[in-house]
Amino acid sequence: MPKITVENEKTFEAASGVKLVLALEDNGIDILHRCGGQARCTTCRVEILEGSVPPISEKEIEALEEPELIEKFRLSCQLHVENDLTLRVAKRAHIEDLSPGPRPQP
Ligand code: FES
Repeated sequence: MPKITVENEKTFEAASGVKLVLALEDNGIDILHRCGGQARCTTCRVEILEGSVPPISEKEIEALEEPELIEKFRLSCQLHVENDLTLRVAKRAHIEDLSPGPRPQP
């Protein structure tokens, strides 16, 4: 099973093919997903520090909009876990003082 490391937080194993945002949330990582995984809110964005992920999708580019965001982030609701990854979560529910949002579909 692929290993996911959240920088300065924890490492856990995730089932291959699971949506990254769900793997994070189900392993106790505080992450926002305000649009429920529809690639609209960008609150689920993560910075991939190590590990390989597929090329960024048109949907992600459209949602992230700004070139500096497109260069730096991926939407965890649009990625499926395939390999070991090390990442940084950009938006935390407790810091933003928001509820995470509707659970994205698996
Ligand atoms: S873009 Fe909204 S949850 Fe991913």
